[in-house]
Amino acid sequence: IRQIAPFPQDFLWGASSSSFQAEGAWHEGGKGDSVISHTETEAQTTAFDEGVDFYHQYHTDIGLMKEAGLKAFRFSIAWTRIFPQGVGKPNPEGVAFYHHVIDELSAASIEPIVTMYHFDYPQHLVDKYGGWLSRRSINDFVTYAKFLLDEYGDKVHYWITINEQDHITKMPYRLGILGKTYSESMREEYQANHHMVVASAKVFNLIHTKYPGTEVGPALSYQVYYPATHSPEDTEAAMDLSLLTQDYLLELQCSGRYDPVFRHYLESHNAWPDFPDSDLDYIKANSPDFIGVNYYSSDTVAYMPANGDDGEIGGKPVPSYERGIYQKVRNKELPTTQWGWTIDPRGLKLSLRKLYYEYHLPMIVTENGFSEEEEVSPNKPIDDTKRIAYLGDHIRAVQEAISLGIPVFGYCIWSFTDVISGHSGMNKRYGIVAVNRTNFDLKAMNRLPKKSFYWYQQLIKKGAY
Ligand code: BG6
Repeated sequence: IRQIAPFPQDFLWGASSSSFQAEGAWHEGGKGDSVISHTETEAQTTAFDEGVDFYHQYHTDIGLMKEAGLKAFRFSIAWTRIFPQGVGKPNPEGVAFYHHVIDELSAASIEPIVTMYHFDYPQHLVDKYGGWLSRRSINDFVTYAKFLLDEYGDKVHYWITINEQDHITKMPYRLGILGKTYSESMREEYQANHHMVVASAKVFNLIHTKYPGTEVGPALSYQVYYPATHSPEDTEAAMDLSLLTQDYLLELQCSGRYDPVFRHYLESHNAWPDFPDSDLDYIKANSPDFIGVNYYSSDTVAYMPANGDDGEIGGKPVPSYERGIYQKVRNKELPTTQWGWTIDPRGLKLSLRKLYYEYHLPMIVTENGFSEEEEVSPNKPIDDTKRIAYLGDHIRAVQEAISLGIPVFGYCIWSFTDVISGHSGMNKRYGIVAVNRTNFDLKAMNRLPKKSFYWYQQLIKKGAY
């Protein structure tokens, strides 16, 4: 890069959260059950029940967002607060709750970026007809989305349809498939994946025809995969991992095309979904306006012979769907977090470059963050120097991408306050504002800005890193 360009004036400096990780109040205000209440581990479910009390403390949180100078806040709507059963009569208390949140954000001049569905799928739809596994799910999602657009459409410019569909597809329990692993349920997973893509295309169509001036896109979990060595086998393994875990989805969502290698993979695992041919034309004609990118780390990949030994990490048996294709290996060049996730800011720049090269769509970093175990003390702010370094380096990587001409219009830290981590409850904190609860001790759930909060405030003020 010859010269680093400044961030655009209207760059959306933001932060993110999701309903099931933040709100709590899981049975208050008429809310119905979601798959989360039934399918995560007991410790997580207990933690998710109360979340970090955003449902009651949103006013305080938005006050802190204003103090930080945020230009955008990405949050998700809990489908079962709006329709407790997933369909049917809307729940007025739930509808009013999100009006309050959006109105307070607007009053604080913070752009709401609203995710329609972030993992917490209505349990009732799973019980009734298998949820995303059935084609009936498409209409129910579109009905829900249409309700949101009619209700909040004049106040919300940016919509995200589905968060991390590429991850949902790998986590059977988040689809309500219980007692089966990913490899045992691949056929169902990719049927669900197809339905989610058609449902999203219908929402893109709805927005483009009925709500002009509104923009919509998916948020994908995305990362770069490096070959472990210079060998052609490892290079192909890295390509394969990227294709089979993330690129297949954008290719389908943006171009209405199942990549042939991905198709070959699904067919060889007896996992090719059923659908009418017309779906692909429809998807192709209705593509997103932007891509939301959730980026945390990169991975390094080696070829995995079909009859090979166990992978290098953990000595766990390599699942059948990876055999003959790839295995993830440790990258000794890169530091990691306590959870072994690599810290790789350049990987974010590379991801943005690759995505733009493939899809030519504007992008927003919808999630990026650093997790650590932290002790919350009421008297002194948490000195989260490592988080500050992580965020600063990743923001710099976004700036480098922008300097190269890649259109990135915002960046959202995961997360604003600490929220319940998807895999590790309250042990794994990401926030720039601490919440003083632990997994089993709710305490008062006070908000305590960390050092990174003040650092981000200064950065936003300067509009530069
Ligand atoms: C993303 C999700 O996968 O990563 C978030 O969209 C999640 O919901 C985040 O919390 C971090 O993952 P984890 O498991 O460390 O909380």
